[in-house]
Amino acid sequence: MIDLKGVGVTYSNGWRALSNVQLKIDKGEFVFVVGTTGAGKSTLLKLLSREETATEGTVKVSGQDLSSLPLHDLPAYRRKIGIVFQDFGLLPNKTVYENVAFALQVTGASRQTIRRQVPYVLDLVAMSHRPDAFPNQLSGGEQQRVAIARALVNEPFLLLADEPTGNLDPETSLGIMQLLNHINLRGTTVIIATHDQAVVDFLQRRVIAFDQGGLVRDEVVGNYRATEAQEETA
Ligand SMILES: Nc1ncnc2c1ncn2[C@@H]1O[C@H](COP(=O)(O)OP(=O)(O)O)[C@@H](O)[C@H]1O
Ligand SMILES: [Mg+2]
Repeated sequence: MIDLKGVGVTYSNGWRALSNVQLKIDKGEFVFVVGTTGAGKSTLLKLLSREETATEGTVKVSGQDLSSLPLHDLPAYRRKIGIVFQDFGLLPNKTVYENVAFALQVTGASRQTIRRQVPYVLDLVAMSHRPDAFPNQLSGGEQQRVAIARALVNEPFLLLADEPTGNLDPETSLGIMQLLNHINLRGTTVIIATHDQAVVDFLQRRVIAFDQGGLVRDEVVGNYRATEAQEETA
């Protein structure tokens, strides 16, 4: 479903953030993207959401070459992708219910769809008991669960999460990652950029590692760090 061939990204200031990336991700996969700050993780996610375009090579999603995606198709493309960030990004003056409903309203969804979908996704993230709460009345973990519900409400085929547990304590982080794992098991492709070694090692899913813009490791069942044996053969 996702196919990157010889992908490079050089930012306008001349900084080469990614180089020669070859990567395939199938429908329904769950992938951790790891690497130190500046390795290129966010740039990879931005390529997939078409916030950035490759300056070399091709990025294809569902057969579509993203660099030739017509501008007027961009909103429809983005609507099919759910995105979750480190800082949750909820609208502070809207309730939990309204934050999630808003993501549907902007797509022109009917009131009937909204009344069906919002409770459904809030239930999925175990937040259906607080529909009337405002973001500042919730813990970080609860806010992130609402942000995940909002990302899912349009039934995206792909969920991108950029350091989703960066602002959360270890126990809450594990809960959020287990929720993303659960969402993946229901069929959504999930790609998570993270620094969270404990969670990556706990879940034992596919791990791709970046270092200075290069993809340096890709394991079907991986840990945050390469094992010594793998480093020796690398
Ligand atoms: N818009 C930009 N313009 C110039 N350089 C950028 C831009 N965005 C990111 N970079 C640089 O590209 C490199 C990779 O960044 P990023 O993908 O954000 O890495 P990560 O998410 O792994 O920390 C870093 O050196 C960063 O400073
Ligand atoms: Mg980043």
